Amino acid sequence: MSSGANRFDPAQTASPGEPIIISDSVKRTPAHDAALLILKGAACVVFRVPTARSTRRVKFSKGCGGTLTIGPLTEEPGVAEQEHIQTTVDAIIEEDRNILSFEVSRQNADSLYGESYLDDFGIPASVETVRICAIPDCTINANAYPVLRSTGQLERVTVTEMKHNAAKQTLDISFVFSVPSELKDKPLDERHLSCLLPPCQTKELPELPSLLPPSGVETAREEATAEQDNQVVTPWEVQAEDGGINYDKLLKQFGCSPVTPNIIKKIEEATGKRAHHMLRRGLFFSHRDLDLLLHHVLKCKKSGGESPAPCPFYLYTGRGPSSESLHIGHLVPFVFTKYLQDVFDVPLVIQMTDDEKFLFKDNLHLGQTQRLAFENAKDIIACGFDVNKTLIFANTDYIKYLYPTMLEIQKRVTFNQTRGIFGFNGSDNIGKIAFPACQAAPSFAEAFPFIFGNSPAVKTIKCLIPQAIDQDPYFRMTRDVAVRMGLPKPALIHSRFIPALQGYKTKMSGSVECSSIYVSDSPKEIADKINKFAFSGGRATTEEQRQFGADLTVDVAYQYLTFFLEDDQELERITEAYSTGKMLTGEVKQRLITLLQDLVRQHQERRAQVTDDMVREFMNPDRPCFARFRAK
Ligand code: TRP
Repeated sequence: MSSGANRFDPAQTASPGEPIIISDSVKRTPAHDAALLILKGAACVVFRVPTARSTRRVKFSKGCGGTLTIGPLTEEPGVAEQEHIQTTVDAIIEEDRNILSFEVSRQNADSLYGESYLDDFGIPASVETVRICAIPDCTINANAYPVLRSTGQLERVTVTEMKHNAAKQTLDISFVFSVPSELKDKPLDERHLSCLLPPCQTKELPELPSLLPPSGVETAREEATAEQDNQVVTPWEVQAEDGGINYDKLLKQFGCSPVTPNIIKKIEEATGKRAHHMLRRGLFFSHRDLDLLLHHVLKCKKSGGESPAPCPFYLYTGRGPSSESLHIGHLVPFVFTKYLQDVFDVPLVIQMTDDEKFLFKDNLHLGQTQRLAFENAKDIIACGFDVNKTLIFANTDYIKYLYPTMLEIQKRVTFNQTRGIFGFNGSDNIGKIAFPACQAAPSFAEAFPFIFGNSPAVKTIKCLIPQAIDQDPYFRMTRDVAVRMGLPKPALIHSRFIPALQGYKTKMSGSVECSSIYVSDSPKEIADKINKFAFSGGRATTEEQRQFGADLTVDVAYQYLTFFLEDDQELERITEAYSTGKMLTGEVKQRLITLLQDLVRQHQERRAQVTDDMVREFMNPDRPCFARFRAK
């Protein structure tokens, strides 16, 4: 994978002017380079080496194959690791990921990607422009040669042998690959090759965090995040810049993918129903691997239940019980999860982290968080979940079933990594440091033997986790260990935050009373809070408002309507009228007040029906209704 200053010339592996052909007689083709990229990405994950300067050598053998040498690797890998590298490679191909290719000046490459794009042997100083090939969330490398357009164009890459050299601390990974017959022995064209973007503007280039493998070893990943420090989003702190949370930046910073119209279309295709308004309006705006999950769901549908798992996936979400009742922001993931449960007809597990809130909040005793978990479960049940498809569990109670999985996770995450991911430091209590494994464990079906059974097929069951974007760090860690545990990475879908009444600078907080509307508030409290506190994007005077219209992006009442007003046409009318000055803040607030009064009243009625016994039923893991989800 050496680099060169050569400009794009698809024919450069063959003699100039000759077409590129993948055949057994050509030593290096775009398929060889694609296989190498995939293998390198997989190796970085499994062996936890950085991408930077870890390629020691590349050799091509006759026919479709070669050897990649990586280092430093102090220990000889075992059989399990050989298997892991193969499953990781298989997954990257199955996922049919895009392979990017672009040219940048040496200087820009250095400033954007540090050393991450370099091989151990580097690039001669005389080279001024480098071509970079990358697979998002996987690997990045300077590469002089053209490469295939996507990983799925390879049929298979098989690791044939791994040889460790203890003295040099290197590992030779030998491989062979195959391509579908339509790609073999015929000239390739643009449909097959990754198109080289024109020499790029730095602004448009993918940022390093979105390219690196999810192993967290590349310090640059953390540095890149730390640089943009006006905006802080962690599970414990959300601080926006002026003008609110910049969600585009967050996508880049976290390396997540946007929920595109295409994804929404696929959801509609897979469910046969119109997508939820929170999807259509971009409130659930970000995901990881949702496309793959949908691909899998559609495949299961077509094959008609031949797979050993009787449901294509399960849902997992949760709640940290820190307040007596939920506020309407807390409802967002649950309302959305209920929709997912209904349209996909899949089991759902809901984690109540009574342990987390005990460990992270100074003012709460364990007895309190346990009681709050039970009380909050009532609000959750009132969202309408189907008892026959839902398990709610409190960690301090259910821990026995999580613990084996937690141990597998804990063994694979170092303190330094939790420092990087969560910002822990030496004076945090050790319970905090161990906790992320507890939130990670339910991402794996093996933590629910009563639902999915104990057969080996449980290891293949996939998971989707709806959540607010601040929970992503937990699941970045989870997805990283999943690969090394030989288990499927959970897919994620993230929501925006619902702003605090006071405005967009922060999210609604359960611990600041007047920043939120609680599902226990009275109609009068709702009206008072909205009238008094809801930050307005309207103008200072009626005249100005009539003339200029409101700034909807910062107007809290309007933003709440986008979350909770289901009627698209009415919302459209309000959008138009308010932004052009035909409608005034007071009128918009009034509409929100009646909407939330209704919503909260209905919620309270449903909650009043929820008895302690019903909570215990939802919390009973061992129920006959789960039998239908057991894996064969
Ligand atoms: N940590 C979350 C909170 O404080 C609760 C939680 C646990 C969660 N598991 C989850 C949230 C899975 C989303 C998905 O609210």
